[in-house]
Amino acid sequence: MAISRMFQILIVTLLHYFSASILAANPIYNVFSYGAKADGKFDCTKAFEDAWGAACASVSPATIYVPQGRYILGNAYFDGSTCKNNATTIQIDGTLSAPYDYNVIGDSVHWLKFRRVNGVSIRGGTLDGQGANLWACKASGKNCPKGATSLAFLNSDKISIDGLTSINSQKFHIVADGCRDAKLRNIKISAPDESPNTDGIHIGRSSGVSVTNSRIATGDDCVSVSPGTSNLFVENVTCGPGHGISIGSLGWVMDEAGVENVTVKSCVFSGTQNGVRIKTWARPSNGYVRNVHYEDLTMINAENPIIIDQNYCPNNQNCPNQMSGVKISGVTYKDIHGTSATETGLNLECSKAEPCTGITLDKIMLNYKNKTAAVVCGNAVQKMDGVINPLKCLP
Ligand SMILES: *[C@@H]1O[C@H](CO)[C@@H](O)[C@H](O)[C@H]1NC(C)=O
Ligand SMILES: *[C@@H]1O[C@H](CO)[C@@H](O)[C@H](O)[C@H]1NC(C)=O
Ligand SMILES: *[C@@H]1O[C@H](CO)[C@@H](O)[C@H](O)[C@H]1NC(C)=O
Ligand SMILES: *[C@@H]1O[C@H](CO)[C@@H](O)[C@H](O)[C@H]1NC(C)=O
Repeated sequence: MAISRMFQILIVTLLHYFSASILAANPIYNVFSYGAKADGKFDCTKAFEDAWGAACASVSPATIYVPQGRYILGNAYFDGSTCKNNATTIQIDGTLSAPYDYNVIGDSVHWLKFRRVNGVSIRGGTLDGQGANLWACKASGKNCPKGATSLAFLNSDKISIDGLTSINSQKFHIVADGCRDAKLRNIKISAPDESPNTDGIHIGRSSGVSVTNSRIATGDDCVSVSPGTSNLFVENVTCGPGHGISIGSLGWVMDEAGVENVTVKSCVFSGTQNGVRIKTWARPSNGYVRNVHYEDLTMINAENPIIIDQNYCPNNQNCPNQMSGVKISGVTYKDIHGTSATETGLNLECSKAEPCTGITLDKIMLNYKNKTAAVVCGNAVQKMDGVINPLKCLP
């Protein structure tokens, strides 16, 4: 009896010792400890920010844990500028929801904002932007807030997002702006076909971003790319409904950073407005797009499977009779197959001022109603280098 009692005490002591040492090495901050309630009513903004503050102050790698349940958050700001570690994991088993009243976050640009963080990983979780009432407000033509991006990483390095689901953002779902080295994997994004500006993943002024093994269905671009982006890699993304994967709109201003080294590989576009698009304003600009590689893309009734549009000037406002100054060079389309929902499978309207150069078409097999889809090279194209096989531009 006495021996087994002593044994028990020994075990308990050992367990205490080990768990304490594990905690010290790798602390876990449960949002419940900071006052969060997973009841779908309580405002958990402060609890999440406080848990972040604690993790950020940890000198060793830290984990923030969000148990199952529904958490309401208003605008939350996670500032990393004074963090003491390089490796904070946010493990989410629950759903983070924006407030039902869209006005709470609607006038801020971002709902959940990470800024100047280094080495943050988000694992799992669902974000619910509760955008429906705001879209309805916008559709009614009333004066409505612009809407917030659900999740934004600004001026941050070494980001990893794995297994996150994002639904019904007011505006964009996920934004990386001014970031280096971001890996987005196994992301699921959805918003209705007709929801306005609900881009899936928007990347600007960033380098070394990859988006892989993801499923994106929204009312706007699945992935959109804005100036100053380089070394972007997109693979195994299923897109649709939505507007496709788009570089642009670029060239609104004269002085603009270029886009270079973009690869889009093994993606499927289903019922999308575009497949892969490069779009620039018909305005003077010294921007550029170079070294873009599209390969192994499947189109299933995409309206514009392959499109370069350098004459973008909606309603002929701010750019009539002007030409785009954005120079597009070195774009390869290889093994693009499937079906087009319109007669034109490939539409390359380059700028008269800065004709596209180094466009390579290799194994383009697109059908429209069982016939090879047409290729249109807009009047603006002065010169196109490269192989055009098996299709030729119509005269
Ligand atoms: C972050 O990591 C880099 C190397 O990867 C290191 O030089 C730096 O000191 C780290 N910063 C902190 C706050 O741990
Ligand atoms: C592509 O992504 C899906 C998830 O969207 C995943 O199930 C599948 O295994 C991935 N395929 C490859 C070849 O990695
Ligand atoms: C683009 O890729 C080329 C070739 O790999 C590389 O030399 C260049 O530095 C890259 N550009 C940027 C901005 O990283
Ligand atoms: C395409 O061809 C198949 C088989 O040849 C035929 O059954 C189908 O009706 C055709 N579809 C169209 C839209 O012409």
